[in-house]
Amino acid sequence: MSKSYFIETYGCQMNVADSELVSGLLTREGFSETKDIHTADAIFVNTCAIREHAEDKVHSRLGYYHQIKRKNPKTIIGVLGCMAQNLKEDILESKPFVDIVLGPDSYRRLPEMIRERSNESSHLVDTKLSRFEVYDDMFPSRNKGINAWISIMRGCDKFCTFCIVPFTRGRERSRSVEGIVQEAAQAVSDGFIEVTLLGQNVNSYHHEGQKFHELLDAVAQIPGLKRIRYTSPHPEDMTQDVLNVMAKYDNICNYVHLPLQAGNDEVLNRMNRTYTKDQFLARVNQIRNTLPNVGISTDIIVGFPGENEAEFQETMDVMEVVKFDSAFTFKYSSRPGTKAAEFDDHVPEDEKQHRLERLIEMQQKHTLFRNKAIVGRVEMVLVEKESKRSKKQWAGRTDANKWVVFNKENAKIKDLIPVKIMDARGITLHGEIVQIQEMEAA
Ligand code: SAH
Ligand code: SF4
Ligand code: F3S
Repeated sequence: MSKSYFIETYGCQMNVADSELVSGLLTREGFSETKDIHTADAIFVNTCAIREHAEDKVHSRLGYYHQIKRKNPKTIIGVLGCMAQNLKEDILESKPFVDIVLGPDSYRRLPEMIRERSNESSHLVDTKLSRFEVYDDMFPSRNKGINAWISIMRGCDKFCTFCIVPFTRGRERSRSVEGIVQEAAQAVSDGFIEVTLLGQNVNSYHHEGQKFHELLDAVAQIPGLKRIRYTSPHPEDMTQDVLNVMAKYDNICNYVHLPLQAGNDEVLNRMNRTYTKDQFLARVNQIRNTLPNVGISTDIIVGFPGENEAEFQETMDVMEVVKFDSAFTFKYSSRPGTKAAEFDDHVPEDEKQHRLERLIEMQQKHTLFRNKAIVGRVEMVLVEKESKRSKKQWAGRTDANKWVVFNKENAKIKDLIPVKIMDARGITLHGEIVQIQEMEAA
C-alpha cells in the first residue's frame, strides 16, 4: 500500500501555494494525501515565522504531533517552510521526535527523505537557500475551488528591518513568463476561474527582460480566466505600466494591496521601507487617478522600536487621508536575526495594544465609509460560497475585493453576475442580483 501523508499549512498564501507544490510532488512519487492525521504515515507542517505568535502556533502543533507519535512511533514528522531555518537548532537539540526539517528551497528532496527516514537514519535536515530554485517545472496539486494561487517569484531582497522573510526565504528570483502562463492556463482547464499571482514583492518581478506588467498582460489573455489578482506589490516598485495594464483588461481586478507599515518618515526610514509619507500618498493618488473605484488595502505595524505617540499619530493621519478600504494591522513582533531586533527602545506591550485598538477602530469607520459609498451601484460579483449566516444566500467578492451577500435565486457558484449593492453593515455588503432584463431597461 502506498504511504500516506497529512499536511497542514500556516502563514501566508505563498505557503498555501508551496504546500500544494509539495502535494503535487508527493502524489507524483506515489504517496497519497489523507485528511486523517491519526492514520497518516507522515505528518508535515508548513510553517511561518513572520511574528512570534505564528511560531507559537507551530510549537503547540508540534506538541500534538509528539503525542500522536508516542502512540504510533513509526509516524514520520516533518517541519517545512519558514521556521525550518531557525527551528533547526532547537529541533536537533530538544525535539528528537521531528524526523525531517526542510527549508522552502529544498522541497524536491522530500520524497527521497521520506524513504530514507523509513530506514531509521537520524534527523534529515536541509535548510540551504538557493539563488535559483523557482520550481518552474513542478505542477502543484490544488484543492478544488475558485481561486488558484500561483507563485511567480520567491524570496525578497528588500530587507525591511522588521522582517524575517529575506532570511527564511532567501534572495529574490522570478519564474519564467511561459511557466506561469502555462500553469494559469492549466488551472483554468482544471476548473479554476480566478488566479492570484503571488510574491513577497510581485512588482519587482523580472525574468529575461520581462517585467511584471508584461507578465500581467500575458496572463490576462488566457481564455476563460475570469479574474486575476496579485499580492503584494511594494509601494516603491509600483509602476504606471502596471496600472495601465490593470486598466486595459476587465479581468484584472480593480484592487491593490499597498502596504503602508507606518506614516512617519523617521519610522519608515528605520524600517528601511524606501519611501516617505508623501511618496506613499502620491502613489495612492496615481493609483486612484488611473483606476477609478479601485479598492486599496494595506498592512500597518504599530509599536515599531522607538515609535513615539506623535509618530504613531502620523500613521493615523495617513489613514485619515487615504481612507483604505481595509487594513491588516499588526503589533510589532521582534524577530531574532533582523536588524530591528537590535534596536533599543522597544515599545511596551500595553502601549502597542492601545495603539492597535485605536487603529482598528479608525479602520472600521473607513471601511464602512468606503462600503457605503458604493451602496446603490451595480457591481460584478463572483459567486464563491454559501453565506455563513444563511443557507439561502451566497457570498462573493466584488472586483475591488469586497464581500457581498445576496439571495441565491438562480445563480450558482463560479457565476460572475451583476449585483446591486443595497446596504453596508459592518464589513459586509448586502445586495440583490440584478436580472439581465432590468439591466437592459436601466
Ligand atoms: N512582502 C509583503 C509583506 C509580507 S509580511 C510586503 O512587503 O508588503 C505581511 C505583513 O506582516 C507585512 O506587511 C507587515 O505589516 C507584517 N509584518 C512583517 N514582519 C512583522 C513583524 N516583525 N512584526 C509585526 N508585523 C510584521
Ligand atoms: Fe518583508 Fe519587506 Fe520583503 Fe515584504 S518587502 S517580505 S516586509 S522584507
Ligand atoms: Fe510567514 Fe514565510 Fe509567508 S514567514 S508570512 S510563511 S513567507
